[in-house]
Amino acid sequence: AKLLVLHGPNLNLLGSREPEVYGRTTLAQIDADLAAHAEAAGHGLESFQSNAEHALVDRVQAARSDGTGFILINPAAFTHTSVALRDALAAVAIPFIEVHLSNPHAREPFRHHSYFSDLAAGVVCGFGANSYRYALDAALQHLSSRA
Ligand code: DQA
Repeated sequence: AKLLVLHGPNLNLLGSREPEVYGRTTLAQIDADLAAHAEAAGHGLESFQSNAEHALVDRVQAARSDGTGFILINPAAFTHTSVALRDALAAVAIPFIEVHLSNPHAREPFRHHSYFSDLAAGVVCGFGANSYRYALDAALQHLSSRA
């Protein structure tokens, strides 16, 4: 099955954006690392970043008919605001893991609530770029246990 990685707003700036919070790894490096590891495990992986809520909703909807078996999503600021993106994931009913570089629970109170966590298969946060890798490991395990 194919894996889809979705990145929300401002994650295109990773590497230079508040590096003390988000680290110095770029989004391109994260995506290349994930694709290499998924491929080594025999799965295709596609990444998509957008700053636009509607573009992320459209990409989730497209996942229903493009063979996507699992989604990793860092909704970024939409974590705390987007009922629309939550509803899209509920609609397609593809299992997903919520990923964050930082640990939102250790930050401002407005980051403590997520519109995604209760629907997610799991949540990985606080490990910088490695959060994505740990989430990918869990996703690959999930896919192989269903194969
Ligand atoms: C984030 C945490 C969010 O609160 C924030 O709005 C982001 C990034 C993270 O990966 O740590 O943009 O999702």
